[in-house]
Amino acid sequence: MQPLPGFRDFLPTDCAKRNYIFASWREVARRYGFVEWDGPVLEPTDLYRKKSGPEIVGQLFNFTDKGEREVAMRPELTPTLARVVAAHDREFKKPLKWFSIPQCFRYEKQQRGRLREHFQLNCDIIGEASADADVELIALAIDLLRAFGFTSSDVVVRLSDRGFWGDFLRVRNVPEERWSELLQIIDKSEREPRDKTAERLGSLATDVFQTLDSGGTSERLDQVVAGLQARGLAEFASVDVRIVRGLAYYSGIVFEVFDRGGKLRAIAGGGRYDHLIAQLSDDACDLPAAGFAMGDVVLGELIDATPAVRDRMHARMTAAYEIEIFVVVAKEERRSEAVKQAQLLRDRGKRVDYSLGAAKVGKQFQMAEQLGARTAVLFGDEWPNVAVKDLASGKQELVPHERLLEHVAR
Ligand code: HAM
Repeated sequence: MQPLPGFRDFLPTDCAKRNYIFASWREVARRYGFVEWDGPVLEPTDLYRKKSGPEIVGQLFNFTDKGEREVAMRPELTPTLARVVAAHDREFKKPLKWFSIPQCFRYEKQQRGRLREHFQLNCDIIGEASADADVELIALAIDLLRAFGFTSSDVVVRLSDRGFWGDFLRVRNVPEERWSELLQIIDKSEREPRDKTAERLGSLATDVFQTLDSGGTSERLDQVVAGLQARGLAEFASVDVRIVRGLAYYSGIVFEVFDRGGKLRAIAGGGRYDHLIAQLSDDACDLPAAGFAMGDVVLGELIDATPAVRDRMHARMTAAYEIEIFVVVAKEERRSEAVKQAQLLRDRGKRVDYSLGAAKVGKQFQMAEQLGARTAVLFGDEWPNVAVKDLASGKQELVPHERLLEHVAR
């Protein structure tokens, strides 16, 4: 039996990698003053039908539950966040800086960088309309990647502004009800043959292609770039109006993070969504908002493809999981004393292991080595002394068993 297509089993090394990524995400998000929250995995399907836009709705894992409710596994967290903020608005001082690491589910065609479940770090600022919030979020996205060891030669943030495209469509008298559909076409244009995009754009095609080729900017984009320059992070970002974002609710600055080589799908994406909370509020709670999400799948691929970053991860993973002390039961009649000392060492916070069944001493040393132990403590003929052996140098010292804890602490 295999897992379903697009779902993963997390074997211990996969879990270690996931924990490493999550720990780094949490550490950096907290550095920026973000606090953690979470929402339900299952939501009413309508939440996404109304808010996420057709692309995500086509990818929902949805069903009717036993109470005849139309429900969906969350494909993203932003509609939940908007719902929660609208409901608890009065309980919190603004701006809110919230982060979360949900597992999300999208029935996508499985391909490199795209699965049917993934984890994403979401970071959002609610209640701040100025470009300072956009800059803070983009700086955070950059710092999250720097914390893994990525540099500006590995990753780039492509910045754009939905306002720029709004102006473009308004000037050409395109009715607002068509904007969302047209923005989706522009968003997909990089991944589709030009003639197909042209056909879908109709009479707008020439103007859109000209704009995509020549580039563009906006006042807000200039402010964001200046903000990143002031923080010394400008080399990580470039303005690129080809970024539009597939989700329906974005209303201003949008951005996506890619590998510089352009080989992988987006590592992260986000932007400003100033109208979503009001749309989900029963009592006219109207708060500006912006945020982004960084997925674990593409990030994991880029870590593996970047030797310095991968080596750093392996060193940290080893340090986090290695056993420190292996207790060797050299004589079975010493087992209960050995286990008692192992327990005391664990109480002191040491990572300690030993052979659960009787095993030859040589075999036990092999286990110690496999587990990465630096020290072995032998319980055998020397009792009431124990032999403390440094496994790297082979140096051994006899220590009275009642002084073992003190010795190890030293
Ligand atoms: P999104 O661009 O749909 O944005 O997803 C964010 C990131 O999640 C992507 O850049 C990608 O790394 C990862 N991701 C998305 N779908 C998959 C998939 N099928 N398999 C693997 N990874 C995937 C959002 O979800 C917005 N809600 C982000 C946001 C937060 N905007 C404002 N606040």
